[in-house]
Amino acid sequence: HENLKSFPKDFLWGAASAAYQIEGAWNIDGKGISNWDKFVRIPGKTFKGTNGDIAVDHYHRYKEDVQLMAEMGLKTYRFSVAWSRIFPNGKGEINQKGLDFYNDLINELIEHHIEPILTIYHWDLPQALQDEYGGWESRQIIKDFTNYCITLYKAFGDRVKYWVSLNEQNVFTRLGYQTAMHPPGVKDDKLFYQVNHHASLANAAAIKAFRSHVPDGKIGPSFAYSPAYAATSKPEDVLAAENAEELASHWWMDVYTWGTYPQAAWNYLERKGIAPEVEEGDLELLKEGKPDFMGVNYYQTTTFEKNPLHGGTSEGHFNTSGEKGTSEDTGIPGLYKTVRNENLNRTNWDWNIDPQGLRIGLRRITNRYKLPILISENGLGEYDKAEEDGSINDDYRIEYIESHVKSIQEAVTDGVEVIGYCVWSFTDLLSWLNGYKKRYGFVYVNQHEEGEHDLRRMKKKSFYWYKAVIESNGENL
Ligand code: BG6
Repeated sequence: HENLKSFPKDFLWGAASAAYQIEGAWNIDGKGISNWDKFVRIPGKTFKGTNGDIAVDHYHRYKEDVQLMAEMGLKTYRFSVAWSRIFPNGKGEINQKGLDFYNDLINELIEHHIEPILTIYHWDLPQALQDEYGGWESRQIIKDFTNYCITLYKAFGDRVKYWVSLNEQNVFTRLGYQTAMHPPGVKDDKLFYQVNHHASLANAAAIKAFRSHVPDGKIGPSFAYSPAYAATSKPEDVLAAENAEELASHWWMDVYTWGTYPQAAWNYLERKGIAPEVEEGDLELLKEGKPDFMGVNYYQTTTFEKNPLHGGTSEGHFNTSGEKGTSEDTGIPGLYKTVRNENLNRTNWDWNIDPQGLRIGLRRITNRYKLPILISENGLGEYDKAEEDGSINDDYRIEYIESHVKSIQEAVTDGVEVIGYCVWSFTDLLSWLNGYKKRYGFVYVNQHEEGEHDLRRMKKKSFYWYKAVIESNGENL
């Protein structure tokens, strides 16, 4: 066995969530309608038409939830703010009751010695902005998003020191504008790259504004990173993996860190006529938005092989977060196609289980960007069963998290600077498209699509296991 380095003393052992997936109270205390409030009402979009109207009712039960976090010994909790609670119309008048809720939550966390990590945007866009100018489709979003951010900095910046700007920009733009699985349900490659460019500009503007409002705080985006593997050592497969790494990952992380698009990917998109329109001053703004850390949401790796220009798979876009699973071959003719990695086990949702992939990913990011890393999500979605005696024996989750924590420790030993690890998720919550049957939490919530749903909280076996891990600062695996 290798002699592994210890986790840093102030390592942020945590768990994460997102507003739409836990809060409920969708139309209470002045909250406006979000794009998700609307999207889930379109028949056939989510599993059994599940929505987040109630979710796990965290809005009314946050004290009980924070109490459970404290009992577990959580060092940090990552949550997101619902933009439409603060600005029901996305801009204009502030809804004080929205600010009050997050103030109460933040104070409750701090009272229990839990460091808040605040995600500014986790996919729920005020519908009013979508209706008015197409949301991320217009450059107008940059101003409204920055105004929303500054409102949060002023309200919470005295107590919140860790901030995540955009959660998985690569996923919400891709699923919103390439695969149409998320709102606004559009399939348009050119628009996708344009929307994404606006989101990058908004991200940079938000980080730039952060410097003067929260000078002692740290901010970064959370990127959904799925490290690319080559299917074989054939040079054409290695090139396919390089293409994927560049078009599906560097396309975002290079922009965050240096304000530049990777060249080969840019040239390819330009040849196809779908590169984004970049206006004067854009690249300067992007360069001014350098983050303090790279937030990484890691679930799995993706494996690639050559995809011939003619006669290969048709056009399709693999999803880095794996919503479609990994069995379906997708790709871009001439660049790459995804293939199943037979060396890995998979979850019941067909996501690869690959703890070593996390070490590989952390090292790649460190070598390329030289930024500290916050692992802002990692976890296992499974069917959990509450036994009659109230126990939930999620040994598979313990095994999953344990192997990933070990992999992080190996990366730390390699010299990667990891500041924290947020397991997705603390309580069970709404899985955007999969309802409540796909569970991630340390705490089971009695919420289902059908049948009994009294929202009672029950600690899973993994709850006690993670508590011991935190207590020993990761020495006790
Ligand atoms: C990440 C998101 O992509 O993956 C989370 O940031 C999401 O919001 C998580 O819940 C798991 O995805 P899913 O589809 O299994 O719920």
